[in-house]
Amino acid sequence: MMNRYMPLLAVWMIGAALLPGSGLSAQESGGDLTFHRDILPIFQQNCQACHQAGAIAPMELMTYDQVRRYGRMIRNRVSERLMPPWHLNPHLGVQDFKNDRSLTDQEIGAILSWVDAGMPEGDPTDAPPPVDWPTGEDFQSTPMLGEPDLIIYTKPFDVPAEGNDLWWRPRVPTGLTQDRYVRATEVLPSFPDGRGVTHHMLVTAVQEQSVGGLLTEWALGKTGEIYQEGTGKLLEAGSEIQFETHYYPNGTAVPQDRVALGIWLYPEDYVPEFPTRLRFFNIAPEGVLAIEPNSKPIYQRQFVMQNPVRIQSFQAHFHLRGKGASMEAIYPDGRTEVISQIDDFQFNWHNNYIYADHAAPLLPAGTVLKFSMWYDNTTDNPNNPHPGDFVTWGDRAADEMGHFWIGVTDLNQEQYERLLREREAVTDDASGDPSAGPG
Ligand code: HEC
Repeated sequence: MMNRYMPLLAVWMIGAALLPGSGLSAQESGGDLTFHRDILPIFQQNCQACHQAGAIAPMELMTYDQVRRYGRMIRNRVSERLMPPWHLNPHLGVQDFKNDRSLTDQEIGAILSWVDAGMPEGDPTDAPPPVDWPTGEDFQSTPMLGEPDLIIYTKPFDVPAEGNDLWWRPRVPTGLTQDRYVRATEVLPSFPDGRGVTHHMLVTAVQEQSVGGLLTEWALGKTGEIYQEGTGKLLEAGSEIQFETHYYPNGTAVPQDRVALGIWLYPEDYVPEFPTRLRFFNIAPEGVLAIEPNSKPIYQRQFVMQNPVRIQSFQAHFHLRGKGASMEAIYPDGRTEVISQIDDFQFNWHNNYIYADHAAPLLPAGTVLKFSMWYDNTTDNPNNPHPGDFVTWGDRAADEMGHFWIGVTDLNQEQYERLLREREAVTDDASGDPSAGPG
């Protein structure tokens, strides 16, 4: 039973605490590390969700033989922090995320030492039990939240085997007859072939109050969004969903493809204390963005928060020349603080970074959010298709963009002060008597 929930936990919770075997010190253990005892737990926790049959990664990393075959490549990707895909600077800003899948320095050290020691297999009886992974046929949130209250499908689209990127923008009614608050959403590409071609998707609620309010953004590697208790997004009676699906032909035609959007609702008549919304911050807009050949430009913009806010999540969006992005707070008293920094953006991975409840930045009214986005249009950027090109704003991967999607909860002064006090109480307890809870 426990194992049934493992994949969900691996996605939604802070990973490192879950598997006791993965917290060892490589230096201490040296060449004694074995696959079954020391390495497999790390792979179960941080790699197998994607590296299993039928999932999005190109090869399986489930057994000793599979891992051994890719040892050198694994060493390379892991040491450069390209795998698992998590591209935040580990030394700057907030580091507590609900969906963290990064490796600790110790885990990286263990993998490197183990590869360098010749990848000893060890005793299979030391291995943890295999994880019972979801197949991709169903929503990953179902074991935790039950079946979605609403499943809305895009209209069918024929994805050809070959060709350029395609965008499909159908609009579909939600069928809701009363206003409801959304508790969680998850995008599910069709099974099995849709998973290989569905690259990226924007889901917008078309409704009276928040025309064009983005409900969720999904990209390869993202699972879903669940809001903390008391937090939710409004979906109105009579609303429609505007989909924008980015397909990426991969050699296999997928006729009549449909992507599913699962929506979990709060009970009828429930109004969350903290309605939240995804806000769009355009840092390098159309008409402004202009990247010279062989250059490394940076774009910056600042926005004043008119009321207190809690930042729930963030995601930066660029294409192949995108290199890094940061979000800084300039507080009303003049202090500045880096909230988060992506220092090695990878176009294949539009990670949405969801702050842990206790770490979601609480900002007073008058805080200036300063965004920076930088590009590398030189040969230093291994993802750059043509360093000699002059690049402007556009939809295609060879064009560029530069914006942030931020999950924002607007607060009033009373709520802000209360949340701040609650958080300070928890911090005080943690430094004093560890058994005392908040309040
Ligand atoms: C969220 C999904 C995901 C996770 C988690 C993940 N990978 Fe990957 N991995 C991929 C995908 C997709 C690719 C191919 C595209 C790419 O390289 O980005 C890949 C590529 C790789 C490659 C290069 C394969 C090649 O042929 O070039 C290696 C090596 C690798 N992963 C190892 C790992 C290891 C080791 C872990 C865990 C410590 C891990 N990955 C975790 C999805 C994932």
